[in-house]
Amino acid sequence: MTDTAYRAPDLVASDIDSYLDQHAHKSLLRFITCGSVDDGKSTLIGRLLYDSKMIFEDQLAALEADSKRVGTQGQDIDFALLVDGLAAEREQGITIDVAYRFFSTDRRKFIVADTPGHEQYTRNMVTGASTADLAVILVDARKGILTQTRRHSYLAHLIGIRKLVLAVNKMDLIGYDRVKYEDIVGEYREFASTIGIDDFVPIPISGFKGDNIASRSDHTPWFTGPTLMEHLETVPLDVTADQARPFRMPVQWVARPDLDFRGFSGMIAAGRIAPGDPVRILPSGRTTTVARIVTHGGDLPLAVAGQSAMLTLADEVDCSRGDVIVRADVPAEVADQFEATILWMADEEMLPGRGYWLKLATQTVSAQLQAPKYQVNVNTMAHLPARTLGLNAIGVANLSTDRPVVFEPYAAPDGTISRDLGGFILVDKITNATVAAGLIHFALRRAANVHWQAIDVTREAHAAQKNQRARLLWFTGLSGAGKSTIANLVEKRLLALGHHSFLLDGDNVRHGLNRDLGFTDADRVENIRRVGEVARLMTDAGLIVLTAFISPFRAERDMVRAMLPPGEFMEVHIDTPLDVAESRDVKGLYAKARAGQLANFTGIDSPYEAPLNPEIRVNTIDMTPEQAAEAIVDHLLIMPA
Ligand code: ADX
Repeated sequence: MTDTAYRAPDLVASDIDSYLDQHAHKSLLRFITCGSVDDGKSTLIGRLLYDSKMIFEDQLAALEADSKRVGTQGQDIDFALLVDGLAAEREQGITIDVAYRFFSTDRRKFIVADTPGHEQYTRNMVTGASTADLAVILVDARKGILTQTRRHSYLAHLIGIRKLVLAVNKMDLIGYDRVKYEDIVGEYREFASTIGIDDFVPIPISGFKGDNIASRSDHTPWFTGPTLMEHLETVPLDVTADQARPFRMPVQWVARPDLDFRGFSGMIAAGRIAPGDPVRILPSGRTTTVARIVTHGGDLPLAVAGQSAMLTLADEVDCSRGDVIVRADVPAEVADQFEATILWMADEEMLPGRGYWLKLATQTVSAQLQAPKYQVNVNTMAHLPARTLGLNAIGVANLSTDRPVVFEPYAAPDGTISRDLGGFILVDKITNATVAAGLIHFALRRAANVHWQAIDVTREAHAAQKNQRARLLWFTGLSGAGKSTIANLVEKRLLALGHHSFLLDGDNVRHGLNRDLGFTDADRVENIRRVGEVARLMTDAGLIVLTAFISPFRAERDMVRAMLPPGEFMEVHIDTPLDVAESRDVKGLYAKARAGQLANFTGIDSPYEAPLNPEIRVNTIDMTPEQAAEAIVDHLLIMPA
């Protein structure tokens, strides 16, 4: 028998669809269970599956045999074995990642996200919670409210879950003591109100013995509330709430089978739509009306939130993937600067100023975060000062996007939760890994009120006056590679040739403009961001700008490249190998770094990402600085003006 023989079925998307088809007549409750490693979460889920007869006969036999073999729980079946199916989990004694399980009763069907309670797995809980309607917060009756109980409750509330169950578990181990139970409930109520949770349903249970799970327990005659199953089966699901909101449909793709037909497809995020309804396309703001709602089986008279639909429009308006079709008179908001709660999910810390892909509904834009305004201590809810966010940290920060984004606040003051248009993820542009989840609070008004000043004397006019084309020569390389030396020589030659130039040098800029920055990754990113902005302004003035910074990260060099018109940015890699730069050690810094007196030194204990395709690569071993400068100037001047 393999370890996985008794696993309850995990869900994949196609399973969910077919499962929903089979049970189309029953409502669906998605919920999440939150608890620490030994609060008995797996036992509880196993019990729910068992009591709803979702365990297949052969799995049951395996389970009984296995419980005996493991032998930790006497004669009773160890339900935890049912869900802790992975060998690795069993060995580590913790559950990793999110597993979705489904079960169903006569009255309702359920999808439960089983997420780990271990502290470092905040991101798993957030993932599981992001689609849940209800959260079961598990507490061990012997231990009462713990730090993680507060953390889980805070996270569940933050993600927008408004239905909470406080399941006080292991009541059998405290002799079904009513006073202890009520103390725990009272303590939780006090805490909950401080974070805005004004309603929850407490239930005394034993997942292991089955008390108040599927049937009412004889041991708690004083308890008048519902059993857990009863509550899960009957808690009202406001399925029409999303439909009552104004219409929103992010466009996923545009079907264009022939020249006459254009269909705009997507999942309706909110509201309802019928042919003839006036709509607006955002961000452009153009208005039109819906002509048809097309399906394979014929046109529909109406489509509602949660449905996938294909709309045709009465007018030929520009509309493509990423646009959002909204009700014309109650449009969503459009902005390019926001305040948001950021849940950082990557091992590498957040780098303020770096460009990440921001994905919101079907929109993908480039976004930069500012340093956090504060980080939330998820155990005490206290606001702490922070310059960045590490794995599992939660903070509030402003961010800006390179293009306007159509959005809604994640949690509106009236209680509406807009997960589809208020939640986003951030993706690393190089590794493609999801590094954060975000919840939009509001747009920064300055985004709408600060306009680009239209300038009559153009950048072309500035450059033409100087008889040159503006350029940015971006020198990059290790400390001591020779960047400043060569850049200096290049500038002298340009001057001699009658050009107008300016050299921005790392050591100098760090004495003034960037005096506040050190050498952490985050500070280097900000260093380069500022230098990039200054260099861009100087190219606007028509200058040939030279910059000499280590600029160790590809992402920021690429970001500066993208800020300029094509062809204006020239990356110059001063490609001196580490051992050569170190043996020169002009400033004695390598020696200090090796001696451990200088931390985060590039090439020693801080990375350098060499350019993959620089416009110019200079090998300083075979060339003198003068030869290198000459080659660079030649290259610059033969480039088409
Ligand atoms: S960058 O990484 O942010 O681009 P920058 O070019 O501005 O660095 O500054 C590098 C210069 O600062 C080096 O040439 C060296 O003189 C000095 N320096 C001081 N500490 C460090 C360090 N830890 N790593 C690299 N350079 C350092």
